[in-house]
Amino acid sequence: MIGKLNHVAIAVPNLDKAISKYRDVLGANVSPIQDLPEHGVSVVFVELENSKIELLYPLGDNSPIERFLEKNPNGATHHICFEVEDIIKSIALLKAKGARVLGDGKPKIGAHGLPVVFLHPKDFDGVLIELEEVD
Ligand code: CO
Repeated sequence: MIGKLNHVAIAVPNLDKAISKYRDVLGANVSPIQDLPEHGVSVVFVELENSKIELLYPLGDNSPIERFLEKNPNGATHHICFEVEDIIKSIALLKAKGARVLGDGKPKIGAHGLPVVFLHPKDFDGVLIELEEVD
């Protein structure tokens, strides 16, 4: 069901410093900052030849990243994102196999303007998995 690894997301305590590390130290292309209020995050994408790194920073009150950074004050890997062709079908298959979809179980529009859902980390060895529907 899952296709390519779309990105690995890292929660960072200082977005400007993190951008500088990837752009100026590691020499990667970094996208402009995008605010996603419905997800409670600001994001940038580090563009790699075969994948992307998403740098996440809290936005607004009750950001899920705020709580994550309280537990991981130096920053840490937050989730990994796999591509799927049909997110509604994927959700149905996953639920039938006992995996839990977070929130109301319905896709939201993610950072790339495409539908995404998150799967419960307890069902996947402590890793938060994002699925993104690609064309
Ligand atoms: Co993501």
